[in-house]
Amino acid sequence: MALKNKLGLEGLAFQYEEERISKRKAKRLYDERVLDTLEAGSYSALQAIHRWLFEDIYDFSGETRTLNIAKGNFRFASALYLPEALQQISAMPQDTFDRILAKYIEMNIAHPFPEGNGRATRIWLDMILKKELGQVIDWSRVDPEEYLSAMERSPVRDTELRLLLKAALTADTENRTVFMHSIDASYRYEGLAHYRTEDV
Ligand SMILES: Nc1ncnc2c1ncn2[C@@H]1O[C@H](COP(=O)(O)OP(=O)(O)O)[C@@H](O)[C@H]1O
Ligand SMILES: [Mg+2]
Repeated sequence: MALKNKLGLEGLAFQYEEERISKRKAKRLYDERVLDTLEAGSYSALQAIHRWLFEDIYDFSGETRTLNIAKGNFRFASALYLPEALQQISAMPQDTFDRILAKYIEMNIAHPFPEGNGRATRIWLDMILKKELGQVIDWSRVDPEEYLSAMERSPVRDTELRLLLKAALTADTENRTVFMHSIDASYRYEGLAHYRTEDV
């Protein structure tokens, strides 16, 4: 990513350090039980996760973007309406798997940060699933290509994503290995697989 960063690095050197530093923070998220202090499903929880992961890397960690962004053919929510949209998404119900998925899809459409949305929002999703359903997604069981194509499809039709993620649910919510392998998988979707979370 060509975004300004605090590391004074660019290219592959930046990518590796971004992965290493934020994966180390992800591990601490689990070990220090940071998520227990946040309100599952709120935008403020997502901001806190994003800030926690990326505060040593990006100036904008945890802060709602003010510029418009797109990926492929898809334009994420207009920065102009973002604050209001995020309040509405925070207030969406989360009492069933289908409602939680709908909320996750809306949060992806919002894409509140310039970078790091995918990784932060997957942790945010698991936090909701754990609190409301006593389950999390074992992301190591979610195929990267299927996942990305289901996400691209999700603003129009959510069937693929729903089936894909439902099949990877586990009640093993306190398993540190599952957590770390999920982080590795989550980074792999973004092309980041230079380090293993357990090694950083
Ligand atoms: N065309 C698309 N339409 C909708 N969502 C997408 C699209 N492409 C990618 N995504 C979602 O955006 C995420 C990547 O967002 P990004 O801010 O780059 O996060 P990260 O920095 O963690 O990679 C992907 O993991 C996926 O969930
Ligand atoms: Mg990215």
